Amino acid sequence: MRCKKTVVIGVTGGVAVYKALDIVSRLKKKDIDVHVIMTKAAQEFASELSFRSLSLNPVTTDMFDRPNSFDVEHIALAKRADVLLIAPATANIIGKISNGIADDMLSTTVMATKAPVVIAPAMNTAMYENPIVQRNIENLKSYGYHFIEPLSGRLACGDVGRGKMESPEVIVEYVEMLLHSNKDLKGKNILITAGPTREDIDPVRFISNKSSGKMGYAIARAARDRGANVTLITGPTSLSPIKFIDVVNVYSSEDMYKAVMDNLESADIVIKAAAVSDYSPLDYSSIKIKKSEDSMTLPLRKNKDILLEVGSIKGSRIIVGFAAETNNVLDNAKLKLSKKNLDMIVANDVLDKGSGFDVDTNKISIITNDDIISYDILTKDEAANNILDKILEIKR
Ligand code: CTP
Repeated sequence: MRCKKTVVIGVTGGVAVYKALDIVSRLKKKDIDVHVIMTKAAQEFASELSFRSLSLNPVTTDMFDRPNSFDVEHIALAKRADVLLIAPATANIIGKISNGIADDMLSTTVMATKAPVVIAPAMNTAMYENPIVQRNIENLKSYGYHFIEPLSGRLACGDVGRGKMESPEVIVEYVEMLLHSNKDLKGKNILITAGPTREDIDPVRFISNKSSGKMGYAIARAARDRGANVTLITGPTSLSPIKFIDVVNVYSSEDMYKAVMDNLESADIVIKAAAVSDYSPLDYSSIKIKKSEDSMTLPLRKNKDILLEVGSIKGSRIIVGFAAETNNVLDNAKLKLSKKNLDMIVANDVLDKGSGFDVDTNKISIITNDDIISYDILTKDEAANNILDKILEIKR
């Protein structure tokens, strides 16, 4: 059985070729076998030697001068690829593929592969906006080709506009997502909440909690990689935004309530990992509150319990809650499971070492109406996948 994944990277001519070197190096660090095909134009921008040194594999260049190996080579790479990435992709290669032209190593390999093809365009804004290029892109999208949209910015030609190739980091994340072989959540719409909420007291102060958002983000990323359509509703965090999912940024518990209700209709599964503030100030002061007495009392009002409300109108959805506790962890969590009409609750003791806020690990118990499983310490990514595995076991 072949375990190591193979990515074939087609490099076409453009200044962004230097970023393709970074892509190769990032993929190699993830233990992925990388094979590079360079077009003639690409070889004007970087040497075959640089790609060979980074990929540790021979680089395929145009081989009309060696017709015997040509046929064998493009079929071999086309078959071997788990993903075929073209980065940077010029208007020329996009036009060729869109029109079924296969006249060099890269275009013939694209025609011959059954692997997903990801195209990361890089070109001058006017070229990118040209209706012919746009028509070719739309045409290829309709055949299932993946496009990583270029960014806006200052281009090599000095123009400012759309056409700058996405960063190697984001391109590699997209490729990794496609390489993930387990797509058991394909077609499922999953709504996930994460992070804390903030309840403003005055223009400079708020009430919040220590949630980092890491657990909810890990679930969102794992669900995305397993093929789900993910909507992440997140309170303020310092985490990097997750790419290739729908993200709704919210601030207060009231904002989170509205965002959850707005997105509930299409959700098959709701996972509420957010730490919602239970109370907010009764009155917001529009000017900074000045200190006066030695002690002060801040009147608070109870916020809506979003999960309780979602549980009461759940229909055929699977609803998963979280319980971050400091004592009587399992009993408190079980009470929440029944009170909020949940299918599953994930409990953890935030005072436990390796299980608290802002760490990359968690020690969870997964409680359903049928059983309780307590896990040893896990990374949040592992915990996320265990939670998703258990959700898939729930019968509907
Ligand atoms: N939750 C919610 N809305 C709230 C409070 C909590 O949706 N206003 C959700 C959380 O996202 C979590 C679950 O309810 O999935 C449990 O949250 P937790 O703060 O542990 O419990 P509470 O119900 O707030 O009870 P308590 O604070 O008394 O432990």
